[in-house]
Amino acid sequence: MSYYKIDNLEQYFKHYNKSIREPRKFWGKIASENFTWYQEWEKVMEFDMAEAKIKWFIDAKVNIVKNCIDRHLARRGTKTAIIFEPNDPNEEALHISYNELHERVSKMANVLREQGIQKGDRVCIYLPMIPELAVSVLACARIGAIHSVVFAGFSSSAVATRINDSECKMVITSDGGYRGNKTIDLKGIVDEALEKCPCVEQVLVVKRTNTAIKMMEGRDQWLQPLLDDASDNNVAEIMDAEDPLFILYTSGSTGKPKGMVHTTAGYMVYSAYTFKNVFNYEENDIFWCTADIGWITGHSYILYGPLLNGATTIIFEGVPSYPDFSRFWEIIEKHKVTQFYTAPTAIRALAKENLEFVQKYPLASLKVIGSVGEPINEEAWHWYNDHVGGKRCPVVDTWWQTETGGIMISPIPFVTPTKPTYASLPLPGIQPVLMDEKRNEIEGNQVTGSLCIKFPWPGIARTIWGDHKRYKETYFSTFPGKYFTGDGALRDEVGYYRITGRIDDVVIVSGHNLGTAPIEDAINEHPAVAESAIVGFPHDIKGNALYGFVILKESGEYRDRENLSKEINQHVSDHIGPIAKLDKIQFVTGLPKTRSGKIMRRILRKIAEGDYSNFGDISTLLNPEIVEEIKKGKL
Ligand code: WTA
Repeated sequence: MSYYKIDNLEQYFKHYNKSIREPRKFWGKIASENFTWYQEWEKVMEFDMAEAKIKWFIDAKVNIVKNCIDRHLARRGTKTAIIFEPNDPNEEALHISYNELHERVSKMANVLREQGIQKGDRVCIYLPMIPELAVSVLACARIGAIHSVVFAGFSSSAVATRINDSECKMVITSDGGYRGNKTIDLKGIVDEALEKCPCVEQVLVVKRTNTAIKMMEGRDQWLQPLLDDASDNNVAEIMDAEDPLFILYTSGSTGKPKGMVHTTAGYMVYSAYTFKNVFNYEENDIFWCTADIGWITGHSYILYGPLLNGATTIIFEGVPSYPDFSRFWEIIEKHKVTQFYTAPTAIRALAKENLEFVQKYPLASLKVIGSVGEPINEEAWHWYNDHVGGKRCPVVDTWWQTETGGIMISPIPFVTPTKPTYASLPLPGIQPVLMDEKRNEIEGNQVTGSLCIKFPWPGIARTIWGDHKRYKETYFSTFPGKYFTGDGALRDEVGYYRITGRIDDVVIVSGHNLGTAPIEDAINEHPAVAESAIVGFPHDIKGNALYGFVILKESGEYRDRENLSKEINQHVSDHIGPIAKLDKIQFVTGLPKTRSGKIMRRILRKIAEGDYSNFGDISTLLNPEIVEEIKKGKL
């Protein structure tokens, strides 16, 4: 019996039970039957949750790109691996076959080696959603360089922080990027970032927009001439199972972003397995995930998961609103997409537009539709199910995280009955538990608590780059012996999970995780600001928006408040990126604090939500009177 594919509910339970009783046998069998290895493992796994040390497929040797591309060539060489759909619908879509992808990745891998990049070196990739982004990622993985993709919407200082944290030697970027009717000056942003990044020796530049840019001699080179001269014969690096594959930054509730490190074999097995099952992938399907490759969703379900299964995956450069709100539906129709995977924020934004945009297209090719990134509200779930899935396509509400590498809790289409707003059941190998405030596991159903996972799975991130202590503290110390997700969840009467949202200081705005601390730091750098506190509040389309409470310096010259708000938002945009801008800024004379000086965010959150019903006991505050003032001034 193969464990790779789940065909019905009975099988799901069978596989699930096997994966819990004998996890090593379960994952060992999947790994050995569905991938090609230079050498198999000595032991399937080893772990010590207290020390946050987890290893999978110990001593195995493998190359993930050989598994993504080379091994498919005999059977699927002429099959399309990647469909590139440009921002401008009048520009022709590109179909890149597995043979062509092999050639392009091999050349790029040779270019990287010729430019001095070796196994273990970090390469920052700051590119728009164009084929070169996929090719660069895969070329790094082929030669064992660790890719660190930075979302091309981040500002120069956010790029610099990420480059410096992992000491990248090289940056791959482009002259610019198209997004809707805008052109983004990516190279300019990189130039500014690199003023603060002494570790970067070289920049390779892809030509996309033909924007006039500055090239710094000795540092910057156009990529195309290098590719033209490169051989397409490349020998892939033999990687150890636990060699780092990539670093991907995610926001923490405090301080600088966390560079989550994923390693080779476990990530490979887990992203492939989850893709196959959660999307009911079958040969000749056309899979489209609308995420950006700058996020984990794009890593696992635009690139690795689909390519490992020999699928056809779409890379879309543009945005859902350009040239109009039917763009997604037009693309599904044009490429006969079978699986569509997007975020609740996009669904809500499109649902608020005229129904005709979606009704114009029959969308008959669709088989499964998915959601990821934040809780999907009931209304959005139904709109998606009715108007996109035509009530025929199972909606897979997939819960997972950058840290988990792949989907953890999700219905399996045509197997698990769906229930709106519920991510439903854990995938085989995943053991979720709910914990109470006293750190005890909550048994039974119809309960809520902090969501933890009590046993390792192959896709879990192994550490935070350069800071294992932080990894251990963030994920393994709140509930000793368990991985803590930072999310709250509810388990219903039949054991289905519903994720209720973050319980730390991370706010998810339009599907992007934003730590409040770095935003506060950016605001506090404004010369007129003394202190600030940021909380999230519900927003119809973005899911959450940011509300800032700002104390101004007493001695400061007071400019008009409106201008000051704009300047503060400009600061946020410069330091983090436009996605982190605040929707509301309220100037206050104080913030509610505990006697130990901690800001009581719980109270600020309630005020921002407009819920004055129960602040709890505020008499223990250092300054209880401030609560009334803040309430009065609420925006
Ligand atoms: C949230 C994205 C509810 C959650 C893959 C998690 C979700 C965080 C869902 C991780 C979902 C993701 N329902 N909440 N289906 N999917 N989340 O690292 O709070 O960008 O902890 O990974 O998004 O976001 P990240």
